[in-house]
Amino acid sequence: MERVAKLSGSLGFWVVVVTSVLVALASYRFVPLGVEVAMNFVAHNLNGNSLALYAHIAVAPIALLLMPFQFMSGLRTRRPSNHRWMGRAYVAAVVISGIAGFQLAFHTTTGTFATIGFALLSVIWVWTTLGALYFALTRQFARHRDWILRSAALTFAAVTLRVYLGTSMALGAEFMVAYPIISWACWVPNALLVEAYIVLRNQRQPGRAEAVS
Ligand code: HEM
Repeated sequence: MERVAKLSGSLGFWVVVVTSVLVALASYRFVPLGVEVAMNFVAHNLNGNSLALYAHIAVAPIALLLMPFQFMSGLRTRRPSNHRWMGRAYVAAVVISGIAGFQLAFHTTTGTFATIGFALLSVIWVWTTLGALYFALTRQFARHRDWILRSAALTFAAVTLRVYLGTSMALGAEFMVAYPIISWACWVPNALLVEAYIVLRNQRQPGRAEAVS
């Protein structure tokens, strides 16, 4: 039973690695194609809000690209200085693109429900990431791991959003109906799942949450 759980755990991890890398790289399609062609429904931001748009679409994929590699224990133990540098870059990418994402949320053409969903996601994304940084700097590594897991679940919203959007469009849903729902659905289940995992793991390993390393 434990073997099955381990196997499905590592399969899940590799699904996260591959989908994160693919979505991050595909996000740069705006470089050869331009925003109007590559991501038409955010192109209205080019009028007066282009700094936030480019800060978000150019920097957020860096966070998505770095995130899964930070969880690879082999890389972390063999090259701890790489882990720290990539961690700093991840935090910087989240802060810059999170603030820009917050600004974009107020310019979405898909309504107030989507604005609140994305704005809340930006705030919690930056908050959990800075929390993880604080616990790393104060050497509270058990807490650092929990908080970076929370941050990663929200970074992964970029993938779940595109999976849900693609699926709902393929099923014939109306974009203006589906998108506001997805602006919440892309991150709330991720956050709850990771929270449940943290609670269960800390129950199974009492004292872990208080450990300093
Ligand atoms: C987790 C916090 C995030 C928030 C709050 C957020 C917010 C937003 C918002 C509000 C928009 C504009 C949507 C509209 O105008 O209707 C947007 C678009 C976009 N975001 Fe994010 N985003 C986040 C994470 C990411 C990540 C990690 C990536 C990395 C791939 C990313 C890449 C993009 C891209 C490429 C677009 C342009 C449209 C598209 O292709 O879907 N975002 N984001």
